This record gives sequence, C-alpha cells and structure tokens, in this order.
Amino acid sequence: NWTMEDFIEQSVREIKEKIGNRKAICALSGGVDSSVAAVLVHKAIGHNLTCIFVDHGLLRKNEGDQVEKIFRDKFNMNLIRVNAKDRFLSKLKGVTDPEKKRKIIGEEFIRVFEEEKNKLGKVDYLVQGTIYPDVIESGTDKASVIKSHHNVGGLPEDVDFEIIEPLRLLFKDEVREVGRKLNIPDEIVDRQPFPGPGLAIRVLGEITEEKLEIVREADWIFRQEIKRNGLDKEIWQYFAVLPDVKSVGVMGDERTYSHLVVLRAVTSTDGMTADWAKIPFDILEEISNKIVNNVENVNRVVYDITSKPPGTIEWE
Ligand code: XMP
Repeated sequence: NWTMEDFIEQSVREIKEKIGNRKAICALSGGVDSSVAAVLVHKAIGHNLTCIFVDHGLLRKNEGDQVEKIFRDKFNMNLIRVNAKDRFLSKLKGVTDPEKKRKIIGEEFIRVFEEEKNKLGKVDYLVQGTIYPDVIESGTDKASVIKSHHNVGGLPEDVDFEIIEPLRLLFKDEVREVGRKLNIPDEIVDRQPFPGPGLAIRVLGEITEEKLEIVREADWIFRQEIKRNGLDKEIWQYFAVLPDVKSVGVMGDERTYSHLVVLRAVTSTDGMTADWAKIPFDILEEISNKIVNNVENVNRVVYDITSKPPGTIEWE
C-alpha cells in the first residue's frame, strides 16, 4: 500500500542519488507547490539547495516575512530573499494595461532571479514545483512546464541546468498531504491561490505605493474575518481589489471623497469556472465596517456578485 510517507522516502532517496554533491536552486514564492518541492529537495540535499525568494513588493500583508520565518528559521534552509520592490515599482510606473503589467513583472522576475543565480557559481539543477495538472495542461514533457502568463516563476529558456520536478506525478491534494507530512505549516499548505504578479493586478490602473497599501490592508482584514468565521475552507479565493474609483461619502459630519474597495470571493474546484461565494450578509456587513473604519482613504466597500463566466476571478 503506497503512502505519502513512501513517496517522500523514495523521492528523497532519488533526489540524493541524482544530485549528489552538486548544487541546486529553486524559486520560492511561498505558494504550496514551490514550497513543498523545496522542502522535499532540502530534505535530500540540505544546504546544497539554495532558494531564491524574489520579493517584488506586490505580496500580501506579512507574506514576505512569513516565508522567511518558515523556510529560513523553521526549516533552516538556504534562503536568499531579494527585496526588489523599488525595481519592480519603477518598471511598472505609469503602466495601466493588465497584460503589460504581467509581462513586465515576468521579465523582471527572470532578470532578478538570474542575477542572484549568477552570484552562486556553478549550479546544476533547478527545482520546480510542477504538479501533474500542469503537466497535462502543457501537453508536453519538455523541461520547464510553464503556463504562459500564469506563472511568474516562468524561467529563462536558455537554461544550462537540469530541471527537477519532484511533484510532477501528484495532484494538488496529494501535494498538500506531502506538505503536511513534511511539517510545513497550514498557512502555506492550505494557502489559497495567489497570482504571480500579486497585488499588481488587484490595483487596477496605475500602481502606486499608496494604492498597494490600501488594498493590502483591506485584503488583510477580509482574510482575517473569513478565517475567523470559519469560511476559509469552503471559499476557493477571497481577496480585495482596488479599482481606480473614488466616490463621495460622509463620516461624522464631514463629506469624504475616497477610494472604493471591492471584495471578491469565489467557490471553485479548479479556477476554470467559479461561483461568487454566498457569504452571509451579517458577515459582509462586519467586514465592510471594519475596512471603512480601519483603512485610511476608503469610504465605501462593494461585493462582487459575478460568477465565472462571464467574469474572471481576478479583475485584471
Ligand atoms: P482568472 O482571473 O483568469 O483566474 O479567472 C483564474 C486563476 O488564475 C489565477 N491567475 C493568475 N495566476 N499569474 C498567476 O500565477 C497570473 O497572471 C494570473 N492571473 C490569474 C487567479 O488568481 C485564479 O486562481
């Protein structure tokens, strides 16, 4: 009877045999797949694996520190965190087109990753968190299986190293099970999908630090409340969006003219289709109050009641 423990044991053995004393790198994002792949390979080769975590400044609240804490402090992994916010934001300055944002972020990601890699000397292996559905989707067995615009982890094609994909035969729930067996904390293992370009595609229109801060704070409150109300398991994705809209409101006896925050929450099994989540009104009401009262420059909250299709999950 084949168990996840057997899988882990066999993978670790195979990776050890294959890599030996050579060096491997991986791009760690804090997402489930890359995290589980990294911890598995670390178990096999220890500090001969270097994880490069490119913090593009478009992550959710506390996310960067959390990744560092878990992988460097808890797992004692060789982790390089690159704080590249300024680089990304300057490249994104004035850009409003969603696909352009994705392209710029994808390209800059590769540039940063390569710069870090080049500092490491000879590296023979690249670890990727490709899972079975990615393999099927791509329909090919070629090296880096990358969904075109769907993974910022998309890496250069002229790679001079071999790709290692320890999860390529696993489905998502199996990856999670392996993650739990490897003692990866729930906040990673049960993490909702988060797009590679991050908050850049949740701040509509031009990205500014001020807008990022607003969406980050609103998103944080929304996520805390969903969790606190025990809805996090049944909702596939839930997040805040900041459209480029201001509206009039009243607070105390003052007229306000501030940002509008959109809450988006959907149920789904694969993200291909989705229904808007029927969050109880009283919970929505509480979330709305908390956001308006605690996030500066926000005076209105709306809830997106569009399913996919015709809407997409993200707004950009
Ligand atoms: P949509 O918005 O197309 O999203 O309904 C479907 C799923 O894909 C995620 N998504 C992305 N993930 N890079 C990613 O890594 C992207 O550019 C991107 N765009 C959308 C989205 O969060 C949802 O899970």
